Amino acid sequence: MIELRQLTKTYGDGAHRTTVLDRLDLTVGDREIAAVIGPSGAGKSTLAACVNLLEPPTSGTVVVNGRELSRLDQRSLRDARRQIGTIFQSDGLLARRTAAENVELPLRYLGVTRADRRRRVAELLDRVGLAARSGYYPHQLSGGQRQRVGIARALALRPRVLLSDEATSGLDPEATASVVRLLKELRDDLGLAILFITHEMETVLEIADSVAHLDAGRIVEQGAVVDLLRDPSSALGRALLPRRAHGATRGGAPWSVSYASASVPADWIARAGAALGVDVALLGASIGAVDGHVVGHATIALPPGTDAARLVAVLGDLGLHAAPSAAPADAAREPGTIGRELEPVA
Ligand SMILES: Nc1ncnc2c1ncn2[C@@H]1O[C@H](COP(=O)(O)OP(=O)(O)O)[C@@H](O)[C@H]1O
Ligand SMILES: [Mg+2]
Repeated sequence: MIELRQLTKTYGDGAHRTTVLDRLDLTVGDREIAAVIGPSGAGKSTLAACVNLLEPPTSGTVVVNGRELSRLDQRSLRDARRQIGTIFQSDGLLARRTAAENVELPLRYLGVTRADRRRRVAELLDRVGLAARSGYYPHQLSGGQRQRVGIARALALRPRVLLSDEATSGLDPEATASVVRLLKELRDDLGLAILFITHEMETVLEIADSVAHLDAGRIVEQGAVVDLLRDPSSALGRALLPRRAHGATRGGAPWSVSYASASVPADWIARAGAALGVDVALLGASIGAVDGHVVGHATIALPPGTDAARLVAVLGDLGLHAAPSAAPADAAREPGTIGRELEPVA
């Protein structure tokens, strides 16, 4: 478990003082993957450095597994740091050592006996799906495999907490998927609290239970991923699952509909049509499951003259949030949306 309270980090002083992290509150529970997303320069790596106390916070507290790290003496701090495994964008493996030797390094430093090291390394490489690659050198492994060796090494001292700073950035989609799958297994099997830092929104949707949006050192929005996706007013929710503009159909006014509850029936379109006594046309949708929760949004069209207030009420009863869709003319101006290719139909 990681608890950050009012964590603040400034560099420099006087006129050169800059606040890189500004009073952050963030909790990562055991068995939770909390993503921190933000653009380059937002302060993400500084946050990672403050959590393992490579950088001392200027003010605020960092509590890891119930221990306040900022209060520990050097010796206890070294101990506490062993409870935190860290992985970075660069796997940081030693090029002249095999996968097994790289994983073994932290155990050697701790003076673990040879037999115990051997057993533990085999166990760790098996854990990350690389038992058959133990004798390979880093250059003989793919990017995703190297990153998994890095994860095995980070797990060598049995940490309860894992920090990941852009660990999937720069990996191809398949390698990213293998790392994401592994981190979720580690969350579930070992109960790790994982702080997953990234600038890639798609990966957040794949991996995270909760997410905080860091911008210029401030958390501007945070919450459980499912809650954000179900909240039509959430900018972060919309960024996680971008809405596409779907052009209007003949005569029908388009409406944007989003899943706002856990109990939306699969046949909601038919039910809404029956309740309203009209045909509901589906123009487009992005609907998916996040950890078994159905989330998403759709664009529908209704015949002219449909009672808007009744529509909102009927869909509301079905667990959906409805609002008139952006005018197709606006959507068409937005680059990269399919609205661009569609001519409004008279
Ligand atoms: N040691 C340092 N001294 C001064 N400024 C720093 C230092 N480290 C980072 N910064 C500044 O802090 C800001 C956030 O950097 P960083 O945490 O690396 O962002 P991110 O990882 O989100 O890209 C940047 O503006 C960077 O220049
Ligand atoms: Mg960074």
